[in-house]
Amino acid sequence: MRRPITRALTGALALASAAALAPLASPAPAAADSVIIGGAPVRSADTPWVVALSSRDRFGGIRAGQFCGGVVVAPTKVLTAAHCLGREVLGTAVSEVRDLRVIAGREDLRAPGGQEVPVQHVLIAPAYDPRTSSSDLAVLTLASALPVGHVIKTAARGDAANTPGTAAAVYGWGDTTGAGTYASALRAAPVQVQPDTVCARAYPGTALGGRYTPATMLCAGDAKGGHDACQGDSGGPLVAQGRLIGIVSWGSGCGRADSPGVYTRVSEVLPTVADKL
Ligand code: ARG
Repeated sequence: MRRPITRALTGALALASAAALAPLASPAPAAADSVIIGGAPVRSADTPWVVALSSRDRFGGIRAGQFCGGVVVAPTKVLTAAHCLGREVLGTAVSEVRDLRVIAGREDLRAPGGQEVPVQHVLIAPAYDPRTSSSDLAVLTLASALPVGHVIKTAARGDAANTPGTAAAVYGWGDTTGAGTYASALRAAPVQVQPDTVCARAYPGTALGGRYTPATMLCAGDAKGGHDACQGDSGGPLVAQGRLIGIVSWGSGCGRADSPGVYTRVSEVLPTVADKL
């Protein structure tokens, strides 16, 4: 079944560099993965740091042009995944996207409310490697400041929130069934931070999939599967103990027991761009 192209995902290959929502110019894919698996709705007022990245020019207006997530770490700074700003996702260079915006304070993408703030500057982490997804982080500078109440604390090196077994939540907008049924409302799924040994076993870096690199990545999921992020959630936050520990980056499929979601490890990668904050 073909879905409207504005809602399409870039395809079934959920590998390291798999893109988020497909831009208007891309061909419609044959299959889709689902987004925020096993989640429940959340109120934007309770999680004001979650934002949507939007370009109506590239992704159409039905869901306010949402194509990735992001997280507010200072009044004019939003973190997202570097791969969200790549050609594979946008279908063009990010510098060509004239209407790149952050939508804050809005849980339902089809409703008004909250604010849309233009992005003034895009910084891709210098160490980002699109081939391995290492250091999958970008910093957006907003054209105007959001209220301080939107800001979430980020985890530093050695933060206990990174400890395996810690309960965390991942946030995003999108397909909740795997069949192209995009949520218009923000959702969250509960997951646990996994030990690096588990992540490395799940992603040994074969021809079929990516390699888990603990220095710049963290993985989270649940033993039974069923709770995860997925395509379209990229760039969104993984939060534990009230602090940002991860940015949705990649995974194999979505919600599989043996394939936890892989996140950018904020405590290690954010310091590499800290002088830009
Ligand atoms: N690369 C995807 C995106 O651009 C995110 C995939 C996350 N996958 C997962 N199983 N947690 O939206």
